[in-house]
Amino acid sequence: MENNTLCNRQYIDAALVKPSKFLNTEIDEEYYKILRDNVRQHNKVLEPVYVTSGLVAVSGMHRIHLCKELNIPLPIETIGEVSPEQEELLVLSHDLKRPLKHSERFRLYEALRKRHNITPGKRTDLVTNGKEYKAIVDKVVGNDKYISRYKFIKENVVAAFYNDEAKAAKYLKDIDADTVSVSGAEKFIRERVKKIVNKKVIPEKVEVITDWMKLFNKDSRHMTVDETGLVDAIVTSPHYGFGRINYDNDKEKVGQENDVNSYTDAMKPFFEASWNVLKPDGSLWVVIGDCVRDGQYQNAPENFLLMMLAMGWLINDKIIWQKIDPNPTTAFDRTICSYEYIYHFTKSKDFVYNRNWLNEIPNETITTFNHTESQYPLRSLADKVKNSIITTHKSSTAGIRKKCEELGFFCTHNATFPIDIPLYCILASTRPGDTVLDICTGTSVTGEAAVQTKRKFIGYDTNNVYINVSKVRLEKYITE
Ligand SMILES: C[S@@+](CC[C@H](N)C(=O)[O-])C[C@H]1O[C@@H](n2cnc3c(N)ncnc32)[C@H](O)[C@@H]1O
Repeated sequence: MENNTLCNRQYIDAALVKPSKFLNTEIDEEYYKILRDNVRQHNKVLEPVYVTSGLVAVSGMHRIHLCKELNIPLPIETIGEVSPEQEELLVLSHDLKRPLKHSERFRLYEALRKRHNITPGKRTDLVTNGKEYKAIVDKVVGNDKYISRYKFIKENVVAAFYNDEAKAAKYLKDIDADTVSVSGAEKFIRERVKKIVNKKVIPEKVEVITDWMKLFNKDSRHMTVDETGLVDAIVTSPHYGFGRINYDNDKEKVGQENDVNSYTDAMKPFFEASWNVLKPDGSLWVVIGDCVRDGQYQNAPENFLLMMLAMGWLINDKIIWQKIDPNPTTAFDRTICSYEYIYHFTKSKDFVYNRNWLNEIPNETITTFNHTESQYPLRSLADKVKNSIITTHKSSTAGIRKKCEELGFFCTHNATFPIDIPLYCILASTRPGDTVLDICTGTSVTGEAAVQTKRKFIGYDTNNVYINVSKVRLEKYITE
């Protein structure tokens, strides 16, 4: 060893330095090249690396490589005996001069917790050096939310890639390179994990058949009268927002149409089949909204309406469903779209319509529909629809999600409508004991409205998870 003392530095043969097993910084080619050009000019490395007394490096991988390559002595500073735990912390904290990658920040967080003996649920203000720990965590690691997100990613990434470790490692690298954001990755992995759990616990085909209710895990475009009987009303909200929504109907690519024309074409078979199973004096209610693509409204409701008229449907009513609290949009050059249409179609001018439906509801049986997912009592809803506008809060799936999680699976559907919508349609166009059908039933909010008002219900959905959610939603009525 050349004992050339400069301040506290020693110069030694770089080959003698062993890299720490914790020092796994990859070589950044660009930075390495700049460093090499710089060092070549002076034929000297000035900044020392830190080593333990056993010559294990705790910092400076680039410089160690460079000195080895150029065969020049490496300046070192020795920091004495260190335990493996201290070594890891040193390795991580010495590299703090450069911005840490997400994986390194997380490693530092874990090492700090270990060092300060912080276990889940332990108050950091009560542990020795808790303040010091908290200060470092706040400064260099990030907030609790960031940490819990990254922790969730680390713990679940392999499962999310169906145990393909190479793919999982590549994904973590993409996160480190910031080509995937931590919040985006967390969302993606959370959804994947839910799907994996659902796949394990939900049968491939879920069906419920009772006197009052039939839930078919099938494509409603192929439904027949043999299966459904003639129904009194159809209340449905097919997918829209084409190209964006993926209902996991992978084979069908439902909701993945590229433009409004292919969307309306795709809708046609649903309403041909609906025509065949609806009574001549029955009603079809369709809830449909629009979407913006390339800065332009696509006019899905209008195109859909024209397609339906061309098929022979009559349009009896056009109601606006106004949402009090619509989802905000990022566009600053138009209003936030806060409404959808409810189209009331019939097969003839002679159809069942109950103008006095509100009076028929005995107060003692249905005084209010003000359950957890709806804010509006039915009476106020009825008052509101006098002038073709139904105002509600947007729907919430929180309640049904919680129920499903308690049962060990996940409700992955989040495009439901509030119960006030199907309630209004059902009460206006059917009588107790009649049959109501939803051809795209999702989580069966229509079903709940039907059975609450003593109508029979039939629901179709191609997705087994959604039918399972429907089953949970309607279970309490199945036994009644
Ligand atoms: C907007 S969601 C309906 C939500 C429903 N109104 C609710 O409250 O939960 C549309 C549904 O149509 C279903 N769907 C799509 N294609 C279908 C098909 N061919 N047959 C039956 N259901 C279909 C999707 O799986 C999705 O659940």
